[in-house]
Parts: sequence; structure tokens; C-alpha cells
Amino acid sequence: MKRFVRTCVAPAIAVCLSLMVLASASAADALISPPSPLDGRMKKLLADGNASAGIVTAAKKVTFFCDVCHGANGSSVKTDVPNLAGQNPSYLLKQIDKFARGQRQEKFMEGLMKLLTEEDRINVAIFYANNVVKPAGSDTSLPGKALYIARCVMCHQATGHGSETTPRLAGQQIEYLRKSITRYRDRTGERIFEPMSASTAGLNNAEITALVTYLSSLK
Ligand code: HEC
Ligand code: HEC
Repeated sequence: MKRFVRTCVAPAIAVCLSLMVLASASAADALISPPSPLDGRMKKLLADGNASAGIVTAAKKVTFFCDVCHGANGSSVKTDVPNLAGQNPSYLLKQIDKFARGQRQEKFMEGLMKLLTEEDRINVAIFYANNVVKPAGSDTSLPGKALYIARCVMCHQATGHGSETTPRLAGQQIEYLRKSITRYRDRTGERIFEPMSASTAGLNNAEITALVTYLSSLK
């Protein structure tokens, strides 16, 4: 909470105020989207260097299918399908769980994630996180940067690499970013995370385009 107050800068006051109201209403965890119940098991494997070769082999039994849409090793070639490569492993695991439980809505992904065993989910998250992403854009223009610093940097970090609790946005696919930001702004319900709706409230479509151009180009 203290960190939030410190990172509030003038252009983002409205966002910060709504985040602070949320924080005081339902404690600081309203600002954090909780991890997957499998997160602890995954972290033990991540800490065990000897496990990595086995994980790659096991993951590839599943990811050959995912790569059809998400691209070879997770750098997507479809602009509306997200890159998974280089994404934070806890975030990937959490999204797989959310689809499987119907807490994040997209018909195809919901059905597919239900078919993955707990081991598959952990292996796939580690595998993609360890791949290097190929950035989708090539224009780190200033309007997007200024908006990003004012509204988003306190959670997604200056690099756009996010953190354990926040997704990487750097290099992400253009139409996927646009769709995601617009859905949060318009509260369309496929994904519900109040701090994201508060952060994107009031952005017009041109501002979203500026953000998307900037973020997709970060390395
Ligand atoms: C037919 C195409 C297709 C296939 C095959 C597919 N996905 Fe997806 N995936 C998508 C789309 C489209 C989205 C974005 C859904 C949305 O609108 O929120 C997505 C989203 C995701 C996300 C969320 C990423 C983020 O940044 O939030 C994860 C994780 C994911 N897929 C994992 C997988 C895994 C693992 C497999 C293989 C077992 C797989 N997908 C196979 C199309 C596909
Ligand atoms: C309070 C912290 C916070 C702020 C401020 C914030 N975000 Fe987020 N954002 C998150 C978290 C956490 C998630 C993941 C939510 C979940 O678990 O589904 C997220 C998800 C996203 C996603 C979906 C990523 C993906 O791979 O599907 C995008 C895009 C995004 N944020 C962009 C932005 C932009 C642009 C801004 C500024 C206008 C912003 N965020 C401000 C915390 C934040």
C-alpha cells in the first residue's frame, strides 16, 4: 500500500485514488490476483536445476499442439494470439487454471486447459517461461511511453517485464494487447480484475493504440 502511494504521480492521481479506495475496502490483496494452487510445486521444480531437461521433454508432448496458435516455442505469429515465451511462469500457470475453472472466458482455451493434468500445466508454464520472446512491434514511440509511465508502470515495471504477480507486456502481440486492454476498460467480463479496469478507465481508443504500439516493441 505504501509503495502505491509513493508511486502515485500527478497524471495518474485518478487511477491511484481508485486503487487506494480498493486497497482500503478489501485489504491489499484486492491489488494482487492470487496465484495458482500449483504455484508452490512449480517453484520447487524451478529451484531444482536437475529437473529442467526432463521438463522440456515432458512439456513438448503437449506444446507441439499449442505451438499451432502460440507459435514455435511460444512466440506467436498471429497478432491476436498472445506470446507465451518469456512470460512469468506463475502468471502462465494461473491463467491455465483460470481457463480450466471458467474464471477466464474463451471457449476454446477453457475446453483445452481442462484436458491438461497438473503435471502438464506445471511443465508447460516452465517451458514457455524459459523461452526467449521475439517482440511483435518495432516502435517505442513517446505518447505510449508517457501513458505507460503514468498509469501502468507501478505494477508492470519500467521494462514491461512485470513480476511474479503481474504479467509481462513487453513484446506482446498487438491485437491481443488491444483486445485485452479494451476488455478491461469496458468491463466485458471475460476477465475480471478490478485494478486493471480502474487503470484503463477513461482511456480513449487512440490512447490504447499508443500504449499497444509502445508495449509490443519493448524487448
Ligand atoms: C486454436 C488456437 C490455440 C491453441 C491451439 C492454444 N491456444 Fe492458448 N490462447 C489462444 C487464444 C486466442 C488466447 C487468448 C484468449 C483470450 O482472448 O483471452 C490464448 C491464451 C492463452 C494463455 C493466456 C496468455 C496470457 O497472456 O494471458 C495461455 C497461458 C495459453 N493460451 C496456453 C495455451 C497452451 C498451454 C496451449 C496448448 C496446450 C494452448 N494455449 C493452445 C489460442 C490457442
Ligand atoms: C495494480 C496493478 C496494475 C496496474 C496499475 C496495471 N496492471 Fe495490467 N495487470 C495487472 C495484473 C495483476 C494482471 C493479471 C490479472 C490476472 O491475473 O488475470 C494484469 C493484466 C494486464 C494485461 C493482460 C496481459 C496478458 O498477457 O493477458 C494487460 C494487456 C495489461 N494488464 C495492461 C496494462 C496497462 C496498459 C496498464 C496501464 C494502463 C495496466 N495494465 C495497469 C496489474 C496491473
